[in-house]
Amino acid sequence: MNVIVTGCAGFIGSSLAERLLQQGHSVLGIDCFSDFYPRKIKEENLKPLQDYEQFQLVAKNLLELDLSELVKPTDAVFHQAAQAGVRSSWGSQFEIYTENNILATQRLLESLVGTEIPLIYASSSSVYGETTQLPMREDHPTHPRSPYGVSKLAAEHLCQLYWENYGVRCVALRYFTVYGPRQRPDMAFHRFIRAMLTGEEIEIYGDGEQTRDFTFISDAVEANLRALASKKWGEVYNIGGGSRISINASIKLLESILGKKAKLRYKAPQRGDVTHTYADTHKAKNDLGFVPKTSLQDGLTAEVEWIQKVVLPLLTQ
Ligand code: UGA
Repeated sequence: MNVIVTGCAGFIGSSLAERLLQQGHSVLGIDCFSDFYPRKIKEENLKPLQDYEQFQLVAKNLLELDLSELVKPTDAVFHQAAQAGVRSSWGSQFEIYTENNILATQRLLESLVGTEIPLIYASSSSVYGETTQLPMREDHPTHPRSPYGVSKLAAEHLCQLYWENYGVRCVALRYFTVYGPRQRPDMAFHRFIRAMLTGEEIEIYGDGEQTRDFTFISDAVEANLRALASKKWGEVYNIGGGSRISINASIKLLESILGKKAKLRYKAPQRGDVTHTYADTHKAKNDLGFVPKTSLQDGLTAEVEWIQKVVLPLLTQ
């Protein structure tokens, strides 16, 4: 296949592109290298992809491209590009979220009208918002609690609209806090591991009893491949790792993996954060055969290794 991976220099995009290349597919990667985190981390993510002749990079924002031309020779689009970050989506920053998450998705969908090219859209558990209805099921109400969640939900609705009105073949995957090697530097585990390795304090937002259904990166990648193969157009799926744990308990686990105590500082809860996420993944299991495989212990061990081997040396360069 010839596939497009948007956001191919990012955490999930680069991991997915690498798996596709390993399987022998040709990948056209698009990434605008937004300044949300250091470019050298994204360049590091790209290195293994650049070993493949079948990898081509377009270093541009989706909004600057003639997408109808770009998608012509393509068999599928994995749309991972987004302005990420739940807590940073307030204030003047929201403009970036509307452009990169909503408008860019709409342009991509427009370019697929009249084609049979499927689009797998990276949605988010943040579309559910604060709820006591746990585990979260795809047909539960959506009340995002952050502007980021609003933008991800808006784009999910656009996918649905383009499927219903124009037959654009879309599937939306609601990821639940993905972690593992290449995780973004703003995310909890990346920050916690780095702080513990360098002897700095970990900041915990709120009382640390909030929970997340953490999902290991290779399970999220697998979900994308299964979503394409299953052809359940117009559907939405929870992609959760089955590793729900509180932030306090996750730090205990990291202490046992690293064999050292963490220094903790509790701070006020952050606007936009929900208290709990917990994925009901029955639908993904039934329709896609998706079953998460990696335990939190193994996944965190892999992330620790990556931070030690790749991130820390990169940051001291
Ligand atoms: C993550 C991603 O950042 C979103 O892009 C994604 O859409 C979302 O998951 C999702 O899957 O729905 P989040 O759950 O906030 O969002 O992920 P983390 O940054 O790893 O935070 C997890 C928890 O740790 C949150 O409760 C947060 O408040 C807490 N945290 C984070 C801290 O206590 N301290 C920190 O330094 C960072």
